[in-house]
Amino acid sequence: MIDYEDALDYSARWMDLIHKTDFPTKELAHQIIDESKDNFAEHYNRNWLEYRKSVTESGDWASVEWTGSGSVIKDVLGREFLDFLGGFGMMDLGWRHPTVIETVKAQLNWSPMPSQELLDPLRGVLAKLLASITPGDLKYSWFGASGTEANEAAMKIAKLYTGKTAFIVGVRAFHGKTMGSLSLMGKSDFRAQMGAMYGGQVYHVPFGDADAVEKQLEICDKVGVGVAAVMFEPIQGESGAIVPPDDFWPRIRAATKKYKVLLIADEVQTGLGRTGRLWGVEHWNVVPDILTVAKSLGGGVMPVSAVTTTEEIFQPMMYPNPFMHTTTTGGNALACSAAISTIHVILKERLWEQAAEKGAYLMPHLENFVVQYPHIFERVTGKGLLIGMHFKNPEIGYKVSAGLFKRGILVSGTLTSAQTVRLEPPLIVTKEQIDMLLERLGDTLNEISKTM
Ligand SMILES: Cc1ncc(COP(=O)(O)O)c(C=O)c1O
Repeated sequence: MIDYEDALDYSARWMDLIHKTDFPTKELAHQIIDESKDNFAEHYNRNWLEYRKSVTESGDWASVEWTGSGSVIKDVLGREFLDFLGGFGMMDLGWRHPTVIETVKAQLNWSPMPSQELLDPLRGVLAKLLASITPGDLKYSWFGASGTEANEAAMKIAKLYTGKTAFIVGVRAFHGKTMGSLSLMGKSDFRAQMGAMYGGQVYHVPFGDADAVEKQLEICDKVGVGVAAVMFEPIQGESGAIVPPDDFWPRIRAATKKYKVLLIADEVQTGLGRTGRLWGVEHWNVVPDILTVAKSLGGGVMPVSAVTTTEEIFQPMMYPNPFMHTTTTGGNALACSAAISTIHVILKERLWEQAAEKGAYLMPHLENFVVQYPHIFERVTGKGLLIGMHFKNPEIGYKVSAGLFKRGILVSGTLTSAQTVRLEPPLIVTKEQIDMLLERLGDTLNEISKTM
């Protein structure tokens, strides 16, 4: 009989560490760092260690995250980082927002997961809240855990409702990495090696080019290809906070109506205030037919995602088979309690207004850097607190993020190129913290400039 002694001991060791209330001693911290590196190298993904600045740029001891509060993350050695990466858009509320933590803890004492037979009240509450805060007559929601799940669900809903199979999407779009979402993604790095994907037609057009979308819709109509939906991020996030021209969303809204094709807004990164409006599409007063949201919906505490649509479009998800698209843990009570309290905090603190104000403060300073360092900086893009800093080449971009890392600031490189670096701090970031970023960025640029 296998007694699993090692696994029992090892899990007990870590349960013990998790339960500790005091910060690890230096000696214990060193053990944890070595152990974490070893576990990643031997059992998770060795190559992560080569890519993470927390390992390559951290001196003798890699940075292993331990805790955080607001916009500050602390590693296991007590070193602090200002979080201008914000979990790629997951940390609108900052680290361990007390309201969300307390609500989730309280729900934990009642019921964490659904029975699957009795009605779980929080699922309905969250669906109702989303109906009340999303644009237009979006009314019914489906829940998952990740952004990619929400987009998969959006694809299926669009197919079910229209009975059509094709999608029109953006070059350099990022919608997630499961097979359906990946098929809509516009980046070869993650697609090229995968070969055949979603069986229906997918047409990629340049993001922000309304002519191209109109043309593609017209061609599909002429040749008899049924298009289920046109899908874009309101502002492309992962490709570097790329803002489309102002006529883009209104024109694609009109064109999709003309051809009776659904319009899906992927608000996984832009939603819930990040860009200075509660929803990205609100910058252009456009109401999509389907909207997806994830990341910060769980307040940085629980994974939860949603797709929200109108009653009419949701019909085939309800009749005849209400279990047409489900996932066992999606919309569980813990996740919903996090999302309900997150929405409450966002509305109460009007976080989208904070994003707009703080972005408006930060942006001109960054633009000054572009003028001051033309051999380093290409341009700055974005809205609110979704900002892209575009550098002359990937080497320079890497030097900037590494320089900031060494100065205690985390920023987000896009997944495959260091040339573009995003700033996505918690929306609760303070003006003092923004000033600290600007000062350390100035210092970094000055240092790089001297070596050129
Ligand atoms: C716009 C957008 N859609 C979808 C996703 C995928 O979300 P997830 O990583 O939670 O699957 C992302 C992730 O970065 C995203 O930025």
